[in-house]
Amino acid sequence: MVLRARNHDGRQETENAAQAGLDAGSETPSGPPAALQIERVESKTDCHFRNLYASNSNFKQLAKQDADFAAFLKDSGQLDFNDPAAVMQLTKALLKVDFGLRIELPDDRLCPPVPNRHNYILWLKDLMDTTSYEQPGRKLCGLDIGTGASCIYPLLGTAQRPWNFIATDIDVKNLGYARKNVQLNALEDRIQVIERQSDDSLLPLDDADIQSIDFVMTNPPFYVSEDEMLASANEKERPPNSACTGAPVEMVCHGGEVTFVGRLLRESLVLRERVQWYTSMVGKASSLPPLITELRKNNIDNFAVTEFVQGNKTRRWALGWSFSSMRPAQHVAWGINPSLWKQLLPQPVKMDVLVVDAGKPVGGILNKIPEIMGPLELISWVWEVDRAKGRGRARENVWSRAWRRKRLREIADGETADDPMHTDSEECRIGFAIVVKMAIQNTTVSLLWLEGHDYGLFESLGGFVQGRLRDLNCGKAAVAKKSG
Ligand SMILES: C[S@@+](CC[C@H](N)C(=O)[O-])C[C@H]1O[C@@H](n2cnc3c(N)ncnc32)[C@H](O)[C@@H]1O
Repeated sequence: MVLRARNHDGRQETENAAQAGLDAGSETPSGPPAALQIERVESKTDCHFRNLYASNSNFKQLAKQDADFAAFLKDSGQLDFNDPAAVMQLTKALLKVDFGLRIELPDDRLCPPVPNRHNYILWLKDLMDTTSYEQPGRKLCGLDIGTGASCIYPLLGTAQRPWNFIATDIDVKNLGYARKNVQLNALEDRIQVIERQSDDSLLPLDDADIQSIDFVMTNPPFYVSEDEMLASANEKERPPNSACTGAPVEMVCHGGEVTFVGRLLRESLVLRERVQWYTSMVGKASSLPPLITELRKNNIDNFAVTEFVQGNKTRRWALGWSFSSMRPAQHVAWGINPSLWKQLLPQPVKMDVLVVDAGKPVGGILNKIPEIMGPLELISWVWEVDRAKGRGRARENVWSRAWRRKRLREIADGETADDPMHTDSEECRIGFAIVVKMAIQNTTVSLLWLEGHDYGLFESLGGFVQGRLRDLNCGKAAVAKKSG
């Protein structure tokens, strides 16, 4: 039930369902009430894909579904990971069984481990879903830089979402196989493979006459030299230059991944909002600090960092940045352990403004929130009492005393309350959601930052809501805190 809806600028008023969680009911009729799902909302298909590699693959089961893979499996049910042919067959079998995809790969190019590549796609889905006011799962176009022979990211992306891709590479052999793999899956109308030269720009938007795209992804060559690559292969007791390790052209670039992603960052400073999200996987944790320092130096405040874990030892990371104002949800932007990486993380987007312990009365909160927010001169404010959520947008800090005093002076000077000229700006400087979560231990009221670049404004709104809830005596035992 919508109690109040105001929209002064006619902007689209669909909900950012994944972040504000307003669409949870449709897929989970017998699950917890929709209003309580604030962290992640996804369709049954997305849920299936998310859980695919949550536990280790069952090779015996996979062998029953793929005879070619069965031929490599030992009686013990184990696979020889030092045998490149066995590793390649595992990749082919997982793509076939889990995604209905077919691929062909050469022996002397990188053979991608499917769970790791799938993790990147899962994170991208969250990143794109939580930075749009449209429903999750919308049609998007992405660019995969250095797609490899497998063309794995475009194949995985198109298998799960209505996404289209531009895929680039500089290696002729990889390009040939990538095109073949697109054809094998009849995806020519959704994936376009483009040849680039090593000194061309990484982002061929102008060359391909493309005005804008939704995201860029890349798994860049991460070794600084061939020696480093061979030393790493030796450590893992893998055959060098095989499908397990990749060829030097794929794995080595001058300066390694920091230089490659630095190049991407410099190009992004020119293209800016023509791409909503620029992202890259990184193979070494040590690459994150210099890259994040570079983002900050360039005043890029809207970024996200995450970690991909496979099995118990292999770790990879990913970094994304955006010039647009839509902020990713907390679990997407803070995908690394905050106690270890605090200084690398972007500003939090979730603030708990009230926590009421179990047993204390909470009934009034759902009515008090619209009483607090309703009178403010927001661009829009929608409160759904039965879902315990509201969403608003503001031009400026209309909740502050200073703003109210200024407003009273303007009215005294003859402006009417409905005068559209009464604010300094028509632009939205902050989009937010207020979410009430009732759990067994306590009830929490959280403010989520959905849109904007000004963290101070978000903090100020948090302070206002927190103070007013206390004034209204909603939770005497409440403790307000930023959540990480
Ligand atoms: C580590 S491999 C990743 C392959 C595939 N995306 C994957 O994840 O398995 C890096 C790829 O980037 C390609 N590459 C290197 N420099 C490039 C550039 N300047 N532009 C486009 N692709 C490039 C390499 O040929 C190689 O295929």
